[in-house]
Amino acid sequence: MSEKKRVAVLISGRGSNMSALVEAARASEFPAEIVGVIANKASAEGLVFAGQNNIPTAVFALKDYADKAAADAAIDGQLRAWEVDIVCLAGFMRLLSAEFCAKWEGKALNIHPSLLPAFKGLDTHARALDDDVSEHGCTVHFVTADMDDGPIIGQVTVPVEFGDTPGLLAARVLKAEHKLYPWALAQVASGAIRFEDLQD
Ligand code: GRF
Repeated sequence: MSEKKRVAVLISGRGSNMSALVEAARASEFPAEIVGVIANKASAEGLVFAGQNNIPTAVFALKDYADKAAADAAIDGQLRAWEVDIVCLAGFMRLLSAEFCAKWEGKALNIHPSLLPAFKGLDTHARALDDDVSEHGCTVHFVTADMDDGPIIGQVTVPVEFGDTPGLLAARVLKAEHKLYPWALAQVASGAIRFEDLQD
């Protein structure tokens, strides 16, 4: 097999999608390895899992930088230092600058808990229930400067069930996320899905 792609995962909290990527990447045939985890706050719970698994971590909090451009430049510098090929945003709750997105175009992925383009932004599960949809789900897409936009790599549909609450629905979607993200990363890392092939 050709050399594994080097991946960094950006998180803000729990990091369950990051953990799913780390677990998937243990397989010898997986085309990528997780070489670092970056958080925008030191309290991100997922940093504990990364540390326990001997994955290098780094924290870049916006408050420690003059502005967003400087914080993003610091993140970019860390990614270059780790010789990262692909960046996976996994619950990273801060919008990255257009400049950062341009630098990583075609090499940055994001997971979002809805069937995009439906329900961009926050509180997707509650909004889906409010809209009385029968199907919900999750999406992995390439990152572009516009939030929760960018070419779609893959989606998984999840049924909305009678009596669902945002929490119940979120838990069902999260299980699907943990399968979708490793699959999507493998597609991009192996070259099976390329940003340029998804352009209109
Ligand atoms: C996930 O639902 C992801 O789709 C969204 O934020 C949540 C992060 O969860 N962007 P986790 O930190 O991966 O557990």
